[in-house]
Amino acid sequence: MAANRFRLGWFGNLTAPQWRDGWSDRDARTWSDGRFYVDMVRDMERAGFDFMMLEDSLMVPDIYAGTAELELKHAFYAPKLDPVPVVSMLAYATEHIGIVATASTTFYPPYLLARAFATLDHVTRGRVGWNVVTSSEDRAAQNFGMDVLPEHDARYEIAEEFMEVTGKLWQSWEPDAIVIDRERGYFADHTKVNPIDHRGKHFAVRGPMNVHPGPQGKPVICQAGSSPRGRDFAAANADMLLCIPNGLEGMKAYRDDIRARAEKFGRDPDEIKVFFVVAPVIGRTDEEAQAKNEAFLAAEQENFEHQMVHFAATMEIDFSVFDPDLPIPDDVTTNGHQGQFALWKEAFGGRPIREAASKMRVQSMELVGSPVTVADKMEEAMDYVGGDGFMFLSQPPSRSYTALITEGLCPELSRRGLIRQGFSHRTFRENLRAF
Ligand SMILES: Cc1cc2nc3c(=O)[nH]c(=O)nc-3n(C[C@H](O)[C@H](O)[C@H](O)COP(=O)(O)O)c2cc1C
Repeated sequence: MAANRFRLGWFGNLTAPQWRDGWSDRDARTWSDGRFYVDMVRDMERAGFDFMMLEDSLMVPDIYAGTAELELKHAFYAPKLDPVPVVSMLAYATEHIGIVATASTTFYPPYLLARAFATLDHVTRGRVGWNVVTSSEDRAAQNFGMDVLPEHDARYEIAEEFMEVTGKLWQSWEPDAIVIDRERGYFADHTKVNPIDHRGKHFAVRGPMNVHPGPQGKPVICQAGSSPRGRDFAAANADMLLCIPNGLEGMKAYRDDIRARAEKFGRDPDEIKVFFVVAPVIGRTDEEAQAKNEAFLAAEQENFEHQMVHFAATMEIDFSVFDPDLPIPDDVTTNGHQGQFALWKEAFGGRPIREAASKMRVQSMELVGSPVTVADKMEEAMDYVGGDGFMFLSQPPSRSYTALITEGLCPELSRRGLIRQGFSHRTFRENLRAF
């Protein structure tokens, strides 16, 4: 049984929760005080989740048809809270669960980022993760003094140097630099706090950091690039990886590929945990879940708009200029999420845009059914793929959906011994690697 164990993560967007179904009127108005997410992360921790990941982007997208109408209509990408400060609040309300915040190597200066995440590692007592993104939107670049983003692979090159700089900063205090020697009158030993004197192609940072490293030394490194360049970056740097390959074969191939790349970089592949995105539809019975799924699929126009917003925001492709009754034209490319775009095209399978987009969920495999049925499928998938876990994506979030997962599905997974029963270690990284 233990061999099958896997991990659970939650894709958290700090946006307005479900606000149209009439069940969440108060949260739709008060979510931005953060308490909605505090309740959610507590539920996750109790149910056996390993982490909550907080996604982010740095713009109000207005690519689809040249206006922000759809984006704001659906409150998909804005308004949205900055995840970095929210980590503190979520950590203070919990004891064990890992909390991953997204931050971009294209826009943060490395010193500020290293300091912010070292601080978070302290205040979370070793439970913070950093989702390293290179960002994918010119609209974000335009908020930071650039007209356009650096080109896709160049962003990864900058990110590599960014990792080098932050890595050096997190090591700029030797482990025994804090002595608290009352007799000699020394709190910290200045000979063990060292400048890093980094001068590279993209960054010049003197160091040392003005905060000592937290319990983990450096945050858990999370990554989600899926292009060949992105996979190499993840294989070289990441402790955990988020991905959405299509179907069981795609999932297995993806994980095997990442593990092979990790070996190429001289790493133990077991140090990288791969999480597949799923969006389970749960009912008390299989029939109830099927009915919910059909209701979702029937909301074609809304689903279509959601996907168009998603494409526009993450790939900056304006689908309004294409005929929705034809497939995605062959010559469309993106400087945004390239790997994701390739997977999306694969999932569209040459079908017309409207038809494919309106029936689409962002997920690696379909999970529709009662807790027993969904647990069966998850168990089978992990047996086949080899590990390491799933990340649940529910957009927009809601208390009722959370409850289906934490009080319906998780107890079933737990009864089978498939998810963690508790946390045996102090830090997020140790718990992640525990099995
Ligand atoms: C599950 C998942 C979550 C992601 N979350 C974010 C995010 O919060 N912010 C962001 O800018 N990019 C996010 N990305 C995008 C990735 O970081 C990456 O930029 C994207 O997959 C493109 O990389 P590629 O061109 O190497 O495929 C996410 C991707 C996936 C698959």
